[in-house]
Amino acid sequence: MRIVLKPGLAPRLEGASDFRSFSIALDPRLQGDLRTAAAPVGHAEGDHVWVRPDAVRALCATAGDGAWSEGFAAMVSFAKAHGWVDPSGCIRAHVELLDEPAPVSVDAFRQAMRRFASGVCIVAAGEGDQRIGMTVSAFSSVSAEPPLVLVCLNRSAGSHDSLVNASSYAINILGAEQEEEAMLFAGQRGLHGADRFGLGWQQSDSGAPVLTSAHHTLVCQSEAQHPAGSHTVLIGRVIDIIPGRGTAALVNYDGAMGVTSHAA
Ligand SMILES: Cc1cc2nc3c(=O)[nH]c(=O)nc-3n(C[C@H](O)[C@H](O)[C@H](O)COP(=O)(O)O)c2cc1C
Repeated sequence: MRIVLKPGLAPRLEGASDFRSFSIALDPRLQGDLRTAAAPVGHAEGDHVWVRPDAVRALCATAGDGAWSEGFAAMVSFAKAHGWVDPSGCIRAHVELLDEPAPVSVDAFRQAMRRFASGVCIVAAGEGDQRIGMTVSAFSSVSAEPPLVLVCLNRSAGSHDSLVNASSYAINILGAEQEEEAMLFAGQRGLHGADRFGLGWQQSDSGAPVLTSAHHTLVCQSEAQHPAGSHTVLIGRVIDIIPGRGTAALVNYDGAMGVTSHAA
């Protein structure tokens, strides 16, 4: 059996009917103060803990059970014979560290993020046959004064380097009827680079491609880039806003695209 000690939680007894071993399983975060961590069940001495038998009984759901009491008494006698019981009756337990808490899996993270409804945009830069653009939903306002926004771009995207190096770009917020544009710029129609840009695109004064039918467009000057995990966080200073049509907005939610229930 072992007593599990974790920060902020009451001690827990595991494997209560295993009388062949006795230990303390300590969360690594409590390692620096074993004395305090062990206090609810006994007292620390060096790298081990003397555990009060009554503390073990209090943690054991089957302590009233005759078979358990017999097994526990036999375990204490065995420990006594080896000098592992002190004059006050406390049982010596060695301390083992619990494994680090399991990290959040990629799958669990993705599932959680699917629950966050977001808009859908095309971030686009360059002119003529140097135009480049990709669909993003990781877009957010950062600050109103000065007006800053961010988009998160996967470094593995073919458009990543050109967008990160562009001095200006346009963030075209898509409207309800623009799911096909979103798929096109997500690379789902087999077109790349400037081939994704059909009719309906114009250059802004700063030279960034603007989708004239977009829900709204923010033209940005590149302000900063921060590497973060698999992505680059691109921060842009908004230098122009091109109002769009008052349609409903395109949204990305639970792995599918949908539309808002009302128009702007
Ligand atoms: C609705 C939707 C939202 C997306 N959001 C992002 C995003 O925020 N960041 C990102 O890097 N990729 C995002 N993607 C994936 C990119 O659009 C896709 O990988 C990219 O267009 C591929 O570009 P490439 O052909 O230049 O490699 C999204 C795709 C879809 C369909």
